[in-house]
Amino acid sequence: MELREIRRIYAESAVSYDRLMRLQERVLMGKLRWRLLRNARGHVLEVAVGTGLSLEHYPPGCDIVGLDASPEMLRLAVEQANSLQQPFTPVVGDAERLPFPDSSFDTVVSMLAGCTFPDPVAAFGEMRRVCRADGTILLLEHVRVNKPVIGKLQDLITPYSVRRHGCHQNRNTATHVAAAGLRITAARPSLGGYLLSIEAQPA
Ligand SMILES: C[S@@+](CC[C@H](N)C(=O)[O-])C[C@H]1O[C@@H](n2cnc3c(N)ncnc32)[C@H](O)[C@@H]1O
Repeated sequence: MELREIRRIYAESAVSYDRLMRLQERVLMGKLRWRLLRNARGHVLEVAVGTGLSLEHYPPGCDIVGLDASPEMLRLAVEQANSLQQPFTPVVGDAERLPFPDSSFDTVVSMLAGCTFPDPVAAFGEMRRVCRADGTILLLEHVRVNKPVIGKLQDLITPYSVRRHGCHQNRNTATHVAAAGLRITAARPSLGGYLLSIEAQPA
C-alpha cells in the first residue's frame, strides 16, 4: 500500500481513533507504553506519533518531535500535547525519508506503526540514522504470533485489515528491525506474543 493511501485512511479515521483505542489503552497498552517510555530521555523523535496517545507516558524533561504522514492525526497530537503542557513539535513527513540530519535525537520512539509502514525496513533504517550512537530506539508493535493456528488466523485477516486500517496483522517486526541494522538489546513479549516491546541501539 502506498503512503498516499495510508494518508487517506488516517484522514478518515483520525476522529474515531482514540475512541477505538480507549479500552485497550486502559487495560494494557497504556502500561506497556509507560514501561517502555520510562527509558526515553532528552531530545526525542516519535515516528508515526498518530493522535499522541503515548505523550502522557513520557517522563518529564523530554522535548518531543512528533512526525506523522497524516496531518489530521497530527492535529490531534498537538491538542493532546497542549492539554498536557508538553514541549511538542509536530512534523508532517514520511518515516521512510525522515527530514532530520544524522544522529540528531537521543531517543527515537515508534508505536503500532511498523504494521503500516509501506517499507518497514526502510523506516527502521531511518530511525537508526537519526538516532545518536549512544541513543536508544524504543518500539512497541503488534506482531505475527509464533503459534500455527493464531499465526494463520493473522495471515487470513491481514488483507481485510490492510484495506481498512493499512495495518498488516502478520509482520515479523523483530526481523525487520534487525534487517535495518539495529541491535536489539531487549525484547519483551506481552499478550501471548502478540505485542512486542523492543529496546534497540543504532549499531
Ligand atoms: C495505527 S496508527 C499508530 C499511531 C500511534 N503511534 C499510536 O500508538 O497510537 C499508525 C500511524 O502511522 C502513520 N504512518 C503510517 N505510515 C507512515 C509513514 N510512512 N510515515 C509517517 N507516518 C506513517 C499513520 O498516519 C498513523 O498515524
